[in-house]
Amino acid sequence: MILAGETRVAGPSSRSFVPGRSVVPGRSPDLAVPPVDITGLHKSFGLLQVLKGVSLRAERGDVVAVIGGSGSGKSTLLRCVNLLENPTRGQIAIDGETIRLKSDGAGGLVPADAAQVRRIRTRLAMVFQSFNLWQHRTLIENVTEVPVHVLKVPKDAARATAEALLRRVGLYEKRDTYPAFLSGGQQQRAAIARALAIQPEVMLFDEPTSALDPELVGEVLSVIRDLAAEGRTMILVTHEMTFAREVASRVVFLDAGLVEEEGTPEALFGDPKSERLKRFIRSIH
Ligand SMILES: Nc1ncnc2c1ncn2[C@@H]1O[C@H](COP(=O)(O)OP(=O)(O)O)[C@@H](O)[C@H]1O
Ligand SMILES: [Mg+2]
Repeated sequence: MILAGETRVAGPSSRSFVPGRSVVPGRSPDLAVPPVDITGLHKSFGLLQVLKGVSLRAERGDVVAVIGGSGSGKSTLLRCVNLLENPTRGQIAIDGETIRLKSDGAGGLVPADAAQVRRIRTRLAMVFQSFNLWQHRTLIENVTEVPVHVLKVPKDAARATAEALLRRVGLYEKRDTYPAFLSGGQQQRAAIARALAIQPEVMLFDEPTSALDPELVGEVLSVIRDLAAEGRTMILVTHEMTFAREVASRVVFLDAGLVEEEGTPEALFGDPKSERLKRFIRSIH
């Protein structure tokens, strides 16, 4: 199946990098167009069907918390959104621009337009469970790498932005330190600064605190809470149910590759409808 794409938003040309701004200058986002719109997403690994038709939309400023048991497909869903995995079937639109996919000849899909994927990836920033900082680069180098080498931001401007972002996450003093000398919480805050440096339209978080010692979880959640408060669009896979309840505008419960239930945090946590969600909520308390 070939999915025809419709381009409504021009790619970024030049951007001025202003830390903390959620809307990228140079584009005028149509507020009516959802930043993320996923329809009927399927993903299989060989015979294993992981996603079985997931639809998920994030409106501008939405914080969508994705919850679900281990193996339910949460990471795969996020990885499909920025095409770290190719979906088997379905459609993904970022800012109204549908990612063009074509058949790989073996029952799956691959991107039809590499330039489009590169462009769309600059609108999405992913924060991983395991931080994924470049270990042989200092924090400031981690944060300036993509702006300088991919987005062609002048070095001085990228450095000034990176310093401001590191200051924002409380790591300015550590800017010339290598990741190995930092705690997990500090590394994850640096990873968030790195994600912010591309001025993404959408932040994707994959269990950003689950690799941390309990005493370090709070400092990372507090950074994410700030980002939510400034109206950034985010999809947040998390096991932190109290946090999800506090910051999410919508919660999606994924079960066995399908959206089993979704709604406001109050509805999902306070009045779950499906037996599976009730069982899941009981299991985490
Ligand atoms: N690259 C892969 N190859 C094969 N199986 C995979 C791959 N990635 C994930 N899976 C399988 O897909 C299922 C869902 O994984 P994942 O999306 O990581 O779940 P979750 O993040 O909800 O714990 C699991 O059974 C996992 O083993
Ligand atoms: Mg996962």
